[in-house]
Amino acid sequence: MTERRHPPRARILGTGRCLPDTVVTNADLEARVDTSDEWIRTRTGIRERRIAPPSIDTCDLCEEAARQALEAADLRPDDLDLILVGTVTPALGFPATACLLQERLGTRGQMAFDLSAGCTGFLYALSVADSFIRSGNARYVLAVGAETLSRIVDWDDRSTCVLFGDGAGAAVFGPTQDPERGVLATRMAADGSYWPLLHMPGGGSRHPASAESLAQGLHYVKMQGNEVFKVAVRTLHQVAEEVLEAAGVSGDQVDWFVPHQANRRIIDAVRLRLKVPAERVYVNVHRYGNTSAASVPIALDEMVRGGKIRPGHRVLLDAFGAGFTFGAALIRW
Ligand code: UT7
Repeated sequence: MTERRHPPRARILGTGRCLPDTVVTNADLEARVDTSDEWIRTRTGIRERRIAPPSIDTCDLCEEAARQALEAADLRPDDLDLILVGTVTPALGFPATACLLQERLGTRGQMAFDLSAGCTGFLYALSVADSFIRSGNARYVLAVGAETLSRIVDWDDRSTCVLFGDGAGAAVFGPTQDPERGVLATRMAADGSYWPLLHMPGGGSRHPASAESLAQGLHYVKMQGNEVFKVAVRTLHQVAEEVLEAAGVSGDQVDWFVPHQANRRIIDAVRLRLKVPAERVYVNVHRYGNTSAASVPIALDEMVRGGKIRPGHRVLLDAFGAGFTFGAALIRW
């Protein structure tokens, strides 16, 4: 008699992170643009952020985070079937940073590609990893969220330069037959009608690099922050509710809520709507600012290594970003 086996679920086997050493405080920014520590803290919760020196690019950050995640998972680079990098600040225009990372890790052959989903990049990568593992098309998947946003921020624009930071976070996913563990549900979505609210116009085929595009500052992030804020709260809440419903779990049954770290006020507003108690929300935006696709995996790695997330915990991930993209996942650790 053959044993009936359920299709596997994906679970996280190991995590890693890389933050550049250089700390830029709100006081440092006061010296550069017309802003104040008080404004930045009360409007965003941010106190400081990490900035990569010119010698470090997004691939360097990916490599360190990925090596840590592989070591934690007790796997070698050759064990990987798929390498994913969520980023809007790739090391090169092309090829994909995932391919550069593959070369750095000293492996070859497996599929490797980037996902451009703004701050939702890691969640999108998680969803792809989950799908590949469930379908049997991959056994081990490396998913990295990594950014050097400092390279595309206009350091003279106070409305954006105070918000962002550099960093990378990584997770290695593998299959589990345990019906109680792993990625229980995911919900990923996008609404392209909002793209003008958050974008970088230059460098693509619509506005290729030219002396004129540089003079116009088209290679910098453009954001209508207060408009983004409103949609962020609504969509973060919406996708998280959908994932909880799909998994049959209520907000107060979540052990950890790990939202994208863009703004403390957004995090608090979504947390209240979801009815997750304040002590179950992980926040590190005060230390790193908004690291876009890196924010959720950096938080996860801090929580795992800090002993906060333990086996059996229900962990709700939630992100929102340029596109607009949004996504949520519920994991039973
Ligand atoms: O990762 C996903 C994408 N991004 C986000 O999720 C960001 C979402 N948005 C936000 O976090 C907030 O909207 C911001 C933090 C960007 C801005 O906060 P806000 O409360 O929405 O402020 P605001 O844009 O409405 O600006 C209020 C005032 C303006 O002055 P006036 O017109 O009222 O005189 C701005 O010029 O604050 C001014 N301002 C600043 N003042 C000091 C804007 N930036 C600064 C600054 N320092 N850095």
